[in-house]
Amino acid sequence: MKEQAKPKTVTTRTILESKKSGEKVAALTAYDAITARILDEAGIDIILVGDSLSNVFQGNDTTIPVTLDEMIYHAKIVTRAVKRALVVVDMPFMSYQVDAQETLRNAGRILKETGASAVKVEGGKAIAESVGRMTEIGIPVMGHLGLTPQSINKFGGYKPRGEDKEEAAGIISDAKLLEASGVFSIVLEKIPARLAARVTKGVGVPTIGIGAGPQCDGQILVYADMLGLTREFKPRFVRHYANIADEMQKAFSAYVSDVKKGSFPADEESY
Ligand code: KIV
Repeated sequence: MKEQAKPKTVTTRTILESKKSGEKVAALTAYDAITARILDEAGIDIILVGDSLSNVFQGNDTTIPVTLDEMIYHAKIVTRAVKRALVVVDMPFMSYQVDAQETLRNAGRILKETGASAVKVEGGKAIAESVGRMTEIGIPVMGHLGLTPQSINKFGGYKPRGEDKEEAAGIISDAKLLEASGVFSIVLEKIPARLAARVTKGVGVPTIGIGAGPQCDGQILVYADMLGLTREFKPRFVRHYANIADEMQKAFSAYVSDVKKGSFPADEESY
């Protein structure tokens, strides 16, 4: 019997190698099995179980409230559905900021309990030591710089970061520090395209942009935003590839109307 060709899985090495090959990395978030399976079958490279789960799935205003246990619960569900893509899990607020020991314990839980292959953390200098310890012991880490939503209470809003010289220089030096600490990629969120291009040229690991222009080595969006599920949220960097919220509303209204009229179920839908 002929052996069936298995689809090649994406690893952190694949992502690192994309920097050399020039192949762009396509990444999206997912928090549930149905979405993760469809994304995987569509050929996505990275599925991020983002802490945007807090906003999109739990209905919170920020990413601050989501817990480590909740992230682990959703990450388990996502990895169960994924055969090919690299699954990365966000470490939630205060699960890696205290010290390196606690960070290792929490990152270890994520990898052991979920089957995901990597974690993502926000920040540069302040967490570089912990990032170094994780990568040293074999926990792959994705960095995240620019608009880091877990720092929303410090920023006081979601305006682009790195627009002044000092903050731009900080982002460049943080990116180099993260690279030296062993990250396999860095998310750049909501920074000027020119700054993102400088960071991308200045580091040897792929940059994954969200609102950071076309020069990044890859792109990421929150799946619910690009599907038009979060209708009210339409910042400049989100492209709507569909208007699923409208489609859902139409379908739900049609169902309500059919049930009220008694036209659902029909004879052929009954036993
Ligand atoms: O939590 C998330 O979805 C993210 C992406 C926006 C990069 O961090």
